[in-house]
Amino acid sequence: MHIAFAESARAPAGALVVLVAAGPKLSPTARRLDRLAKGQIARALKLAKRQGKAGEFHVIEAPRGSRVTRLVLAGIGAAKEMTDLGAEALGGRIVRQLGAIGETEASVAIDPMASLGDGIGMDAADFAARVASGARLAAYRFDKYKTKKKSENGSVAVKTLTLRLDGAAAARRAFQPLDKIADGVVLTRDLVSEPANVLYPESLAKRAKDLAKLGVEVDVLTEAQMRKLGMNALLGVGQGSVRKPCTVIMEWNGLPKGTRKKPVAFVGKGVTFDTGGISIKPAAGMEDMKWDMGGAGVVIGLMKALAGRKAKVHAVGAIGLVENMPDGNAQRPGDIVTSMSGQTIEVLNTDAEGRLVLADVLWYTQDRFKPEAMIDLATLTGAIIVALGEDYAGLFSNDDALAEKIAAASKATDEKVWRLPLDDAFDRMIDGDAADVKNIGSGRSAGSITAAQFLQRFVNKVPWAHLDIAGVTWSKKDRPTTPKGGTGFGVRLLDRLVADHFEQH
Ligand code: BES
Ligand code: MN
Ligand code: ZN
Repeated sequence: MHIAFAESARAPAGALVVLVAAGPKLSPTARRLDRLAKGQIARALKLAKRQGKAGEFHVIEAPRGSRVTRLVLAGIGAAKEMTDLGAEALGGRIVRQLGAIGETEASVAIDPMASLGDGIGMDAADFAARVASGARLAAYRFDKYKTKKKSENGSVAVKTLTLRLDGAAAARRAFQPLDKIADGVVLTRDLVSEPANVLYPESLAKRAKDLAKLGVEVDVLTEAQMRKLGMNALLGVGQGSVRKPCTVIMEWNGLPKGTRKKPVAFVGKGVTFDTGGISIKPAAGMEDMKWDMGGAGVVIGLMKALAGRKAKVHAVGAIGLVENMPDGNAQRPGDIVTSMSGQTIEVLNTDAEGRLVLADVLWYTQDRFKPEAMIDLATLTGAIIVALGEDYAGLFSNDDALAEKIAAASKATDEKVWRLPLDDAFDRMIDGDAADVKNIGSGRSAGSITAAQFLQRFVNKVPWAHLDIAGVTWSKKDRPTTPKGGTGFGVRLLDRLVADHFEQH
């Protein structure tokens, strides 16, 4: 979808979206059209019992001879309560509505928000930029493998959306960083949507290398290099696959020349397919395990967003890429491996592989980069879906201040997190019998927490947080700015965390 900003005076073609605030209160543009149409718009709203609530739409055909095809009246709720997130949701809903009625070209008339309600709402430029951002995120589709581009439910893809307002240049400027963040979200969605025959460690690493164009330094640790480093926990997971594992390190330094600062580090689980290994998973639903590289996907998308908007931050992204397969050379339940940290691990279940991958990548990252903070993302446990469902990621941290910063970024972006405890009592559950630590707890109790405790054993004093994103990486239902499928959850959250707490301003 192409997004444009134009001055409101320019005559639109295609569908025209006008805003209706709670009441219903017509926007100035809607009011002007209503006068031209001799009260037809107010009458239509009344007959359809529309009150200008957020999410409400009413569509009117434009008169013959008009350049406009249809008037789409979009409810926005109370104007003075409009927020960044509300504007994004509005943009998303508009795109969905336009698609449903078959309009491929449309304009949105953005009137000064203060004129829509009693109070002062958002600045019109920011409002337009947020509507555009929401529209772009909602317009996402993963259809590259469909040779016949036609949708089942008759909806079409919107091709051009023009936001019309006085002072289009300011809106275009405000949209720029949001557009770059959306680039990152879209990349993450693309990566988690790719099937595992296309996306495997080497090909995923290649996608990460594309970021070099934006000024990100990208390094790949090969299998041989990882063996030298002693990353046997990660290597054990990959040994049953014909696809060679690797670790990719991405570094973005947007600080002014000459400034030196410890980086903030992001670490991602990148299991490009998780069969479970010898502890094999049941057939039903196993296809979902193509997105078991979701954590790595977020780290790549985040690095793209940060580099794209030239964030003044020193950030490192590290992702462990491996395929978990059963074969004659696969790891067996009961095998003992020595991790890079020196700690020995008893692999009692080869399906608890994400923590084995992260153990070595976390250790490597803190050792090499001495980060100011380290945050990992992983589709780590089915248990987090049992506990929190599909709207909240699990948050674990050894540092209250960092956890609170993440919670604040979560509030600002509506990517929800819920903190769960770490405690010695849980840590004891993974003490090894034959080795230092075992990779599963006992039975079904506290599965997400014991996984997090396992990770913590590979983290030293550095402020660290772990996001278990197994429930939020893939969505079965459409949401205003997130179509069903890969969500990109985590990119906006962590971009915001960086902007608010790790970036120089
Ligand atoms: N990748 C899975 C977790 C997962 C499950 C992600 C469902 C997304 C949706 C992970 O590697 C795994 O298999 N975890 C096991 C751990 C168990 C063996 C202790 C699980 O959750 O069942
Ligand atoms: Mn697994
Ligand atoms: Zn997994």
